[in-house]
Amino acid sequence: MLVLGIESSCDETGVALVDGGGTDVPRLLSHALHSQVEMHADYGGVVPELASRDHIRRVLPLATQVLSGAHRSLADVDVVAFTRGPGLAGALLVGAGVACALGAALDRPVLGVHHLEGHLLSPFLSADPPVFPFVALLVSGGHTQLMRVDGVGRYELLGETIDDAAGEAFDKSAKLLGLGYPGGPALSRLAQSGDATAFRLPRPLLHSGDLDFSYAGLKTAVMTQARKLGDALHERTADLAASTEAAIVEVLVRKSLAALDATGLKRLVVAGGVGANRVLRAQLDAACTRRGARVHYPELHLCTDNGAMIALAAAMRMQARVQTASKAYAFDVMPRWPLAQVSPDSACAG
Ligand code: KG4
Ligand code: ZN
Repeated sequence: MLVLGIESSCDETGVALVDGGGTDVPRLLSHALHSQVEMHADYGGVVPELASRDHIRRVLPLATQVLSGAHRSLADVDVVAFTRGPGLAGALLVGAGVACALGAALDRPVLGVHHLEGHLLSPFLSADPPVFPFVALLVSGGHTQLMRVDGVGRYELLGETIDDAAGEAFDKSAKLLGLGYPGGPALSRLAQSGDATAFRLPRPLLHSGDLDFSYAGLKTAVMTQARKLGDALHERTADLAASTEAAIVEVLVRKSLAALDATGLKRLVVAGGVGANRVLRAQLDAACTRRGARVHYPELHLCTDNGAMIALAAAMRMQARVQTASKAYAFDVMPRWPLAQVSPDSACAG
């Protein structure tokens, strides 16, 4: 069964074709991505209206590219999946509208997917896929959550950020250091040549005894430190970047280990854009090896937003019979949508 997946929740248009037939883990046949990063860079962040317009321009050419890459045609597509939420309403509407129009034109069913479920299941497309149950650390630009995952659609929230997300902390700190948008990868690159112990930045909620996070105070601490340095900042930017990265990562690692302890599970899945961070990966690998636990990541190029994870999540939901695709083409989107509310029997696009 061929599932065409469309992702358009934020600043990346992603399209992919996944073969999800039978009971095997679905296989990625082809995927294509257009990042809007350059377009938004001048504004220092995502401009929602520009994002929506660009998704409109990109989505069909990307679909054509994906199908020809897999040597298939539109007529071969069995199900069209799209990101139903959470994300920017206008951007989501583009993917949902195109998916449902394609479904109607081809007389194929459609299925709306939760963006974070896509991230969470994305390691199943890797060479070393996880098995249920596991703890998932979801770290993206908008979310920082620890979930207990017992199966497809069976997600229990263990803890989450009470303010900024880890990706936001990377991005806002990077902006303060003049590294542009999105700052996470840039800050992380610069940090490689810095001293992570140079500045002692706060580790909020490290000893809170729960699995929640708080990152809003970190950017203030980075700003205070940058102001203190004044003209000397340009010589110490790498040190401050490395110290910031260390503060963000230490809390993520400690809370992930605490989640493994609390659940008694021995498998951790890391997903979302920040999951591409090298220091986070190295520290989680080392800590989990020490305690006999395994860590699974998506392939590096599938850490950030993409269509493959949306097609995959749709295929896995259908395989697990927690959702069926439908030919009801009247769609809606869910800009705010807690993952724990993705009930096993939720209907299709709505
Ligand atoms: O999952 P994602 O692509 O989009 C959302 O759903 O939000 O995550 C984007 C976030 C951004 O905040 C970006 O700065 C961060 O992931 N990011 C990184 C790295 N690569 C992406 N943060 C730290 N280190 C990286 N290597
Ligand atoms: Zn994402």
